[in-house]
Amino acid sequence: DRSIKIAPSILAADFAALGAECEAVCAQGADWIHVDVMDGHFVPNISFGPGMCAALRSHVKTVMDVHLMIAPVDRYITAFAEAGADFITAHLEAGPHIHRTLQAIRGAGAKAGLALNPGTPAEAVAPVLDEVDLICVMTVNPGFGGQSFLEGQVAKIRRLREMIGDRPVHLEVDGGVDPTTAQRVVAAGADVLVAGSAVFRGGSIADPAPYGENIRAI
Ligand code: DX5
Ligand code: ZN
Repeated sequence: DRSIKIAPSILAADFAALGAECEAVCAQGADWIHVDVMDGHFVPNISFGPGMCAALRSHVKTVMDVHLMIAPVDRYITAFAEAGADFITAHLEAGPHIHRTLQAIRGAGAKAGLALNPGTPAEAVAPVLDEVDLICVMTVNPGFGGQSFLEGQVAKIRRLREMIGDRPVHLEVDGGVDPTTAQRVVAAGADVLVAGSAVFRGGSIADPAPYGENIRAI
């Protein structure tokens, strides 16, 4: 029996009040906080960087799960580790030397995550299964919140759970997670669910109770 973690993505929160948003969603039952870093190069959108992660660290009362949608990535790993990231997830597609990237993350003292774009097959992680603490299956093309879940990724989640076997590796799903799609990905073997719009809809720092209702609905 695997415990399921809900990781709200603050990409869907109020950017002018991110510290308060992190505190509010933690108080409402978030298991982890998911921080989406975008560079306008690996993905067609820009969000924020290590300075924001460092500023948010004291407001994140739980695990800080940092998803790097940036290329190149290696030169920024130390900065995110120093900012207090617990998990640092890099994309397999972001560079040619994935072992080096994962070793750099662990070497910096963080847990190493590996994200896969929807077009990348499960088998691509086979060479690094013993170098990762988390695999993140993107169920949208990364870059924006609020996109629709790509149903074809469910078989990949199931396959990855088989490949992970009894290793202590989290299987995270990111993109289009809502109460309906959550059931299917958990049945396929996911144990960490990232959700942006499905958590932050209907609430605010002035009235955060809907965040808690939304988390419990997932
Ligand atoms: C997409 C990001 C996701 C995104 C999820 O590029 O990696 O974390 O914020 O947002 P929703 O849950 O709205 O699809
Ligand atoms: Zn993400």
